Amino acid sequence: MQNTSENQLSERKKESYKIFDDIAGTYDPLNRFLSFGIDVYWRNRMKNELPKKSDLTILDLATGTADVPLILIKNKNVSRIRGLDMSKNMIAIGKEKIKAKNLQEKITLDIGDGCNLPEENDSWDVTTVSFGIRNFPDCLKGLQEMHRILKPGGQVMVMEFSLPANAFIRAFYLFYFRKVLPFIGNLFSGHGDAYSYLNKTVEDFPYGKEFLNLMDKANFRNTRAITLTFGIATLYIGEK
Ligand SMILES: C[S@@+](CC[C@H](N)C(=O)[O-])C[C@H]1O[C@@H](n2cnc3c(N)ncnc32)[C@H](O)[C@@H]1O
Repeated sequence: MQNTSENQLSERKKESYKIFDDIAGTYDPLNRFLSFGIDVYWRNRMKNELPKKSDLTILDLATGTADVPLILIKNKNVSRIRGLDMSKNMIAIGKEKIKAKNLQEKITLDIGDGCNLPEENDSWDVTTVSFGIRNFPDCLKGLQEMHRILKPGGQVMVMEFSLPANAFIRAFYLFYFRKVLPFIGNLFSGHGDAYSYLNKTVEDFPYGKEFLNLMDKANFRNTRAITLTFGIATLYIGEK
């Protein structure tokens, strides 16, 4: 049974997109600054793990300001990407970035809920979500939806924060995550507790084997986890 603070967190997740509406203007620069730019390397890793097939179509969930589509489109096998997100302000910034690179023919963004995808069954080659699924009110439902819209043999890629296995690195990381990141994030985003909330969603979220079990439950096969930067983040991959 869930305790009160877990219930409050899962209630808050239903409207987490509103927080992103509020912080959209500072999201990109704060991301680069708070992650020391490592997040760009992590997204590039996703690009390198794409299937080696031509004419790939990709559906990116919780696409935010379109950082993932803008990196994945650099893979020569990718022909088209659709990004979905619940935050209209994050998407508006993403659209400007896509226009500035003249990629509107290849990347489109729309409002869409990761737990209730407005997509046909068996219709995409790849589906991705980076640092988004822990904000979904029902993570398993999100994975089941990703499974539903993939073509048979299609690939899912989920990137999410995790906790480092090494005790020393973990202690340092938790100090940074609990104290430094919320302080700087809340201050510069101008939002009372956006980054304190983000920190809570990370510590609460399943990772490693526990997350792979959820992927298995959603019927993905050949699931695996690639730990990134001492386990601060993990890239999960599976097939339909
Ligand atoms: C931390 S941002 C990640 C953005 C982007 N994927 C990235 O890597 O920078 C999380 C995003 O999840 C979106 N989000 C939250 N709940 C959602 C839901 N149920 N469906 C779709 N997007 C959602 C938020 O609006 C926000 O843009």
